[in-house]
Amino acid sequence: MAKNALSFVCQNCGAAYNRWQGKCESCGEWNTLVEEDVTGVTTMPVSIRSKRKGRLFALETLTGKSNDAPRLPSGMTELDRVTGGGFVRGSVLLVGGDPGIGKSTLLTQATSLLARAGHRAVYISGEEAVAQVRLRAERLGLADTPVQLAAETSVEDIVSTLSEGAVPRLIVIDSIQTMWTDTVESAPGTVTQVRASAQALIRFAKKSGAAIILVGHVTKDGQIAGPRVVEHMVDAVLSFEGEGSQQFRILRAVKNRFGPTDEIGVFEMTGLGLREVSNPSELFLSERDLGSPGTAVFAGIEGTRPVLVELQALVAPTTLGTPRRAVVGWDPSRLSMVLAVLEAHCGVKLSGYDVYLNVAGGLRIQEPAADLAAAAALVSSLVNAPLPTDAVYFGEISLSGAVRPVAQTSARLKEAAKLGFGRAVLPESARGETGADSGLVLNTVGGLTNLVAEIAAGGNPGGKRQANPDENREHLSEKNATPARFRREGR
Ligand code: TYD
Ligand code: MG
Repeated sequence: MAKNALSFVCQNCGAAYNRWQGKCESCGEWNTLVEEDVTGVTTMPVSIRSKRKGRLFALETLTGKSNDAPRLPSGMTELDRVTGGGFVRGSVLLVGGDPGIGKSTLLTQATSLLARAGHRAVYISGEEAVAQVRLRAERLGLADTPVQLAAETSVEDIVSTLSEGAVPRLIVIDSIQTMWTDTVESAPGTVTQVRASAQALIRFAKKSGAAIILVGHVTKDGQIAGPRVVEHMVDAVLSFEGEGSQQFRILRAVKNRFGPTDEIGVFEMTGLGLREVSNPSELFLSERDLGSPGTAVFAGIEGTRPVLVELQALVAPTTLGTPRRAVVGWDPSRLSMVLAVLEAHCGVKLSGYDVYLNVAGGLRIQEPAADLAAAAALVSSLVNAPLPTDAVYFGEISLSGAVRPVAQTSARLKEAAKLGFGRAVLPESARGETGADSGLVLNTVGGLTNLVAEIAAGGNPGGKRQANPDENREHLSEKNATPARFRREGR
C-alpha cells in the first residue's frame, strides 16, 4: 500500500481515487470526492497479515438446530408485509427516505409496539435529543411504552452498552450518517465512517442475534446518500416514499434477503402518527375526478395484493419542436412504447402533442399490465371523451398492437367489484379464466385499435356520449377513421 494513505472517496458511491478530480468516474456525480484518511481501515500491517496463520474454525451442515422464532413480527401489518413477516434475528435492515417523510415516526411506532409486547427494544437517536424523541412519542400517544432510549453517536459505546443484559430484540439506529467509530479517522458522515460504523453494527447484530434497523438519508435523486455502499452489506433495504403534499406514504422493499421485494406497505400520515392503510385502493381512488377526460382506473397488483389506482393523462398541442413526454409514477420507456404503438398501429397522431402521464396518489407502478389503462387515458384526453367512470382497465400491449393477457385476472376483478365498479376492459383471453365471473361486465379487447376506435366514437358503454363523435376523429388518420374500424367490442 502507498505510504500516503490519504485517498479521495466519492461520497455518493464510495469509489476511491488517489487524486482529486471533479467528476466521479464510477457513478458520474460531480463534486462528490472528499479527501479521507483511510489508514485505519486495515488495522494490521500487510507484513504481519501475510505471516499470520489462520485460526481453525468448525464447518457446519445445512441441517441443524436453528434459533427459535427467527422472525419477530412488529405488530404493524403493513410493515410486516414488506419485511416478509417480521424482523429476522441477527439481520440488519436499512430504511431510506427523504428527510421529513416519517422514518423516525414509523420506527418509533414499531419499537413502541415491540416494547409493549414485552421485548427489549432500543431506540438510539444520533440526530435528535432525548427530549425531542420523547415529544414525538407523546404526540403518538406512546410515551408510556418501555422503549429504551438514548442519544448517542459512538458505535463503540453503543455496542458496549447493548452487550450488557438481555439481548435487545430490536435496535433502531437513527441515522447511520451520524454514527462514528474510533477505528477510522475520517469525519462522521463520510463514506469511510458510514461504512465502518455499519460494519461494526452488522457484526454486533450477527453475533448477538439482535435485529438492527439503520436509518439512511436519501439524496434528491433517490439514492441513499453515502451508504449506497451500505446497501450491499445489509440484509434488506426498505425505501419510504411519498409525495410531500400528500398524506400517503409507501414502504417498499428494494432488496430483501429474507422476503419478497414486490410488496408495498401503505400508510397515511395523520396528526397522531402513521396509520396503516389496509385497503389502499380506497385511498388512491378517494379523490377521483369523475367524468373528466384523460383518466382511467387501472386494476393493478402490488405483490400479493390488488391495488386500484387512477392514471391521469394530458395530451395538449405542443409549442416546442420536440414535444414533451413527462411521466410520474410509471416507466417512461413504457410510455414511449405505448405512444409508438398508438401512432404506428392505431393511426393516433401524437407527434404534435405534449404528453403527460401521472399515477394518482404517488404510487409507482411497475407492471406492464398498466399499458391498456395508460393507452385509454391518453386517447381519452386526446379526443376529449371521458371514459366510463365505473370501468377498470388492465392488459399488456404488445408492439404489434395486440392486447396480451396478464396474471391474476380474478384478483383484479374481485377488487374492482368490491369497490363498486361495474365493468372491466381487459384482454380477450381473460374471459374464460376461472374467477372471471366476479359480476362485472367484461368488455374484452383483442387489439388496441378497437379500444381507440371505441373511445374516439364516445361509444364506451356507460360512457358519456359526445355530441358529435366525428369531431373526435380528426386526430385519427384516414386509415382508422373508416366506420368499419369503429366496431364496438362485443361483451
Ligand atoms: P419524521 O418521522 O421526523 O421524519 P424523518 O425521520 O423521515 O425525517 O416525520 C416528520 C414529519 O412528520 C413532520 O413534518 C411532521 C410529521 N408528523 C405528523 O404529521 N404527525 C405525527 O404524528 C408526527 C410524529 C409527525
Ligand atoms: Mg428522523
